[in-house]
Amino acid sequence: MSGAKSIVSMNNAAFGYDPAHPENLAVKGVSLHVERGEFLSIIGHNGSGKSTLAKMLNGLLLPVSGTVEVNGYQTTDESHIWNIREKVGMVFQNPDNQFVAPTVEDDIAFGLENRGVPQDEMEGRILDALEKVDMTDFRFHEPNKLSGGQKQRVAIAGMLAIEPDILVLDEATAMLDPRGRAEVLEVVRKMNQILGMTVIQITHYLEETLNSDRIVVMDQGQIVGEGTPEVLYQQVDWLRKLGLDVPFACDLKFRLGAIGIRLPGYETTSEGVLQAIWTSSLIK
Ligand SMILES: Nc1ncnc2c1ncn2[C@@H]1O[C@H](COP(=O)(O)OP(=O)(O)O)[C@@H](O)[C@H]1O
Ligand SMILES: [Mg+2]
Repeated sequence: MSGAKSIVSMNNAAFGYDPAHPENLAVKGVSLHVERGEFLSIIGHNGSGKSTLAKMLNGLLLPVSGTVEVNGYQTTDESHIWNIREKVGMVFQNPDNQFVAPTVEDDIAFGLENRGVPQDEMEGRILDALEKVDMTDFRFHEPNKLSGGQKQRVAIAGMLAIEPDILVLDEATAMLDPRGRAEVLEVVRKMNQILGMTVIQITHYLEETLNSDRIVVMDQGQIVGEGTPEVLYQQVDWLRKLGLDVPFACDLKFRLGAIGIRLPGYETTSEGVLQAIWTSSLIK
C-alpha cells in the first residue's frame, strides 16, 4: 500500500527499552502503512512486540530509528504531538491506572474536555458511549471499584465517546467473557463502518480477527506476514510454528479441504462451517 494517503505510516521504525543495550530491540525496523478507515488486526505470540508497536503509534514511545507518521506528522515532531494524541485513542490490556476521575461519568467527561468537546455535547456522548458497552447503570460508580471486565468496558466507552480517528485496542477485551468480547467488538466494528474510524486491534483471540480487512503477524519484533483472513489463515502450519492457533472454523474448513471436501464461500464461525456442510451436496 502506498504511504502517501495512509493515516499511519511506519517506516523502518525501531524501538528498544534499554539505551545501554541499543542492539536489544523490541520492535526491529517495522514498516507498516494503515489506510484511513481500515480495520487492521495485529497478532503474534507474547513478547513479539505488539504492545511496543501500539505505544509507538501515539508517540508514547518514540522510534530510536526510522519514522512513525500519523496523519502526515512524525511522532518525534513535538509541535504536533498533541494533534497526534488527539487523533489516536488507545485502550490497553490492563484497565487499571487508566482512570483519573472519581466517577465513571467524570472520567469519560475528562477525556472529552481534554479534546475540547463542547460542554452541552458531553452528557449525550457519555450516555451514548456507556450504553454501547452496556455500562449505563454504572454511570456514578467509582471506576477503581469496578471489576476488570467492567473497567475495560468503561475504558472503551471513554474512547468511543471521543470518536478518535484511529482507535488502537491492545488486548482491550482480554478480561471480558466471550459474549462481552463479541459485544464490544460489534460496537467497534460499527464505529469503523459507520464513522469510518480506523481500527488497529491487537488480540490473541484469532477468531476476533476474522472480519478484519487485513491481519499483520508479528514475531520477534518484526512483521513476518500479512494478508486478508482468507489468505492468512490457510497457512495453518506456518502460524502454528509461530505459536498461533488458527481459528477452529478455519481449521475445520481446511482439514475438510485436505480430504477433498471443498466448502463454498468463506465462513468465519463454527456455525457457519456447520451450515455450509449441512447445505452442501455432501449431506444430501
Ligand atoms: N517496559 C518494558 N521494559 C523493558 N522491556 C520491555 C518493556 N515492555 C516490553 N518489553 C520487552 O519488549 C519485548 C516486546 O514486548 P511487548 O511489546 O510487550 O510484546 P507483546 O505485546 O507482543 O507481548 C519483550 O521482549 C518484552 O520483554
Ligand atoms: Mg502486549
